[in-house]
Amino acid sequence: MPDLNLILEKIEPSPEEKRKVKGLASELIGIINQEAHKQGIPANAILVGSVAKGTRLAGKADVDIFITFPLSCSQDYLKNKGLELGHHCIEKMESDYEERYASHPYVTGFINGYQVDFVPCYAIKIGSELKSAVDRTVLHTEYIKANLKPEQTGEVLLLKRFMQVVGCYGSEFKVGGFPGYLAELLILEYGTFLRVLEAASKEWMPGYMVDLEEHGTASNFHDPLVVVDPVDENRNVAAALTRQKMAEFVVAASQYIENPSPDFFFDKERKINAKLLKEELISRGTENLILKFHSPELPEDALYPQIRKTEHSLVNILKRSGFRVWGSDSVSYHSQVFIILELEVYNLPPFKRHYGPQVWNRVHSRIFQEKYQPHCWVEEDAWVALVRRDHTTAESLLKYVISRDGIRHLRTGRHLKDQLMDGYQLLSLPDFLEDETPDQKVLNWLYHYLHKNEFPGDIY
Ligand code: UTP
Ligand code: MN
Repeated sequence: MPDLNLILEKIEPSPEEKRKVKGLASELIGIINQEAHKQGIPANAILVGSVAKGTRLAGKADVDIFITFPLSCSQDYLKNKGLELGHHCIEKMESDYEERYASHPYVTGFINGYQVDFVPCYAIKIGSELKSAVDRTVLHTEYIKANLKPEQTGEVLLLKRFMQVVGCYGSEFKVGGFPGYLAELLILEYGTFLRVLEAASKEWMPGYMVDLEEHGTASNFHDPLVVVDPVDENRNVAAALTRQKMAEFVVAASQYIENPSPDFFFDKERKINAKLLKEELISRGTENLILKFHSPELPEDALYPQIRKTEHSLVNILKRSGFRVWGSDSVSYHSQVFIILELEVYNLPPFKRHYGPQVWNRVHSRIFQEKYQPHCWVEEDAWVALVRRDHTTAESLLKYVISRDGIRHLRTGRHLKDQLMDGYQLLSLPDFLEDETPDQKVLNWLYHYLHKNEFPGDIY
């Protein structure tokens, strides 16, 4: 059994680091509130998220500052003034910023090495008043501050770190895992890190429900895991958790209980060698293709659903045409999108069978024969014809699908279609490894595609 206190020391920010973040947050909040006061804007900035709750992991440099407005303000006013105050603060700190609009407008500043999100929202007192999803965050922060005991902070950190290492942390689309707030609620429900893992490994099933405040609304949700938000009975905090990530977490939890080890808290430092990876790929005996194109400039939560949709559509098109797909994956790094397509059957003969009507159907039999003669015959009591394939290799089919004529078959997101039509590369994966010497991020992603039994950490 690893000494969890020793592990905690390594994953917790140092006291000095904690003071530094809190100091910066107070300074930023001071700047915003002073400016709001000066301009007569009824806004009040507050610190929320893991920094406010004391549940931030070492090395995670995001600070969440919410700029709250009274419910009487209009949405436009809140947005305009909120973003303006955020910009003012970032300018005053002489830092860079990025405007972000996932589902809600906000601005991110890169200040003294921290990523600070300034999010305008309404100041609500109860969940039922909420006007947008972010309004709950203030209530979440208050709930955790009021209910999480000081000695449980460490339990949250252990759980969050465990989730990170096994690849299940984060409710973003690209992960589909556990958000930080959910980790906190699980500690409230079960008490300790170990008890969360025990419950997950022994009891969790799709449809499992947790309802800390006994709202009684859990059965209204149909997600794999249901954790009713203590501050809003109409919200499942685990809504973004996919069945896959829930299952992976259950497996990781069982493995930890059977064989607890510090490895579950620290990413393996791996230097991946492109040559070895290439040999490994070739020894699988499958055909591996990689599609690479420029990524549109979108927030990740808007980009990833489109990437995954494109990947699945490509796989479906290949399957429908008779190719056999072993597996696939997709990712975006450095403004590029990468999609792996691994094929068990990559080449097909030039002809395929095409099944027709039963011979008893006189009208359709005649039409079928007229169309396919002399390349048709009867099997059992139905017509079969030999038809020439349009594409005998997966590569040729894919090239057609990403062309002006073929693109209508492909289901991509709106933004990806334009990018693909602007240009793409379709390469054999071994060639790509040889010629393009991809960087460690891409190599690491490919490594984990081949080694699904190993914990991926934070690969996406
Ligand atoms: P964060 O993703 O920054 O979470 O969202 P966090 O609690 O600060 O944890 P880390 O340490 O940065 O990973 C900020 C707040 O937004 C709300 C929560 O209240 C969270 O504390 N939120 C975020 C949700 O309610 N659901 C989500 O899926 C994500
Ligand atoms: Mn945060």
